[in-house]
Amino acid sequence: MKHTRIVVTHYGGPDALQVLEEECPEPKNGEVRVRVLAAGVSLPDLMMREGIHPETPRLPFTPGWDLVGAVDRLGDGIAGLELGETVAALPISGAYAGFVCLPQRELVPVPAGLDAAEAVSLVLNYVTAYQMLHRSAKVRRGQRVLIHGAAGGVGSALLQLGRLAGLEMYGTCSSRGASVVADLGGIPIDYRQRDFVKEIHRLTGEGVDVVFDGIGGPHIWRSRKALRPGGTVVAYGLTSSLRESRLASGRSGRRRRHRFRGIRIFGLYIAGGWLLPGRKRVVPYSIQWLKRLRPALFRQDLIAQFDLLRQQKIKPLIAHRFPLVEARQAHELLGTGGVTGKIVLVRQPVVG
Ligand SMILES: NC(=O)c1ccc[n+]([C@@H]2O[C@H](COP(=O)([O-])OP(=O)(O)OC[C@H]3O[C@@H](n4cnc5c(N)ncnc54)[C@H](OP(=O)(O)O)[C@@H]3O)[C@@H](O)[C@H]2O)c1
Repeated sequence: MKHTRIVVTHYGGPDALQVLEEECPEPKNGEVRVRVLAAGVSLPDLMMREGIHPETPRLPFTPGWDLVGAVDRLGDGIAGLELGETVAALPISGAYAGFVCLPQRELVPVPAGLDAAEAVSLVLNYVTAYQMLHRSAKVRRGQRVLIHGAAGGVGSALLQLGRLAGLEMYGTCSSRGASVVADLGGIPIDYRQRDFVKEIHRLTGEGVDVVFDGIGGPHIWRSRKALRPGGTVVAYGLTSSLRESRLASGRSGRRRRHRFRGIRIFGLYIAGGWLLPGRKRVVPYSIQWLKRLRPALFRQDLIAQFDLLRQQKIKPLIAHRFPLVEARQAHELLGTGGVTGKIVLVRQPVVG
């Protein structure tokens, strides 16, 4: 049986994504073959395609951090899974394919009846948001938080989960995202028109308790200025390294691609955040490292998100559904910016 797989053939723009038709993979001992129903498209995928994310695999590789699919074939030694059962996983790479083989321990059961595209939005974005809120920042009802990129994938998840936690929320976004941020309970701040540090102090007086900063670099410094004394910046992304280097434009870029450059700069800002006066902390967050160190927490937190979705307490924003063969168009769309919510590659082309 043949399947489709997307492969990054060289580090670069969306044209680096090639569509491959090949034999379906066979599960090895302890593995399960999953028929992918939905694969998320996220900024970390784009950063890996450009070769600037610390998790970037060697070439050629198949991108795709997160997936939801149906159990299709069991390798030797598998027990406790039924054919056709819906499961989710965070393989970090490999999800842009018709079928993937994964170790059983990587699979988390998905409750019946959920939309696959909505369910896959929870795997990376909502677990990231939930763990930052409740495991890194340990937020309390009534606290004030600032969410950068609040109309984006992780940002909109932070708003929905922050509302459930009873937080007072401010969210930076471009003008296109303002109504989404307001609808989700945040006070929008147009970061292109206003200085968010001044705006936060104008609106709150002494500043916020927590800032969630996925922009990275010198931006972490500015986020720290928006804190009240005793506050915390949770630093979790490097959106700026993709946008500022303009690599997503498809031009090969003269500067060499450094997988760990952003991380080193990140480390400096975090260390500086601790050394400077003002009782303000900068703490890093990484879903992949927390999952590697505490896999049971990832599983527990993802199951909790599925439960919230089942109870309709959260509603992931789906920006666009593309068929798998249009992965390149999906990357082009996310790379241009202004996307509200999550882009998802789905199994069947959407008609109409
Ligand atoms: N540490 C982790 O475990 C982890 C997990 C998941 C994601 N991440 C990171 O989180 C970040 C966000 O990922 P995502 O998938 O949510 O991306 P996304 O959906 O593209 O959202 C990013 C948002 O940021 C906005 N933005 C860009 N520059 C901004 C700025 N200077 N100030 C305020 N907002 C700005 C964009 O809005 P406009 O396009 O309208 O400007 C967009 O809405 C990425 O850096 C990603 O690598 C980290």
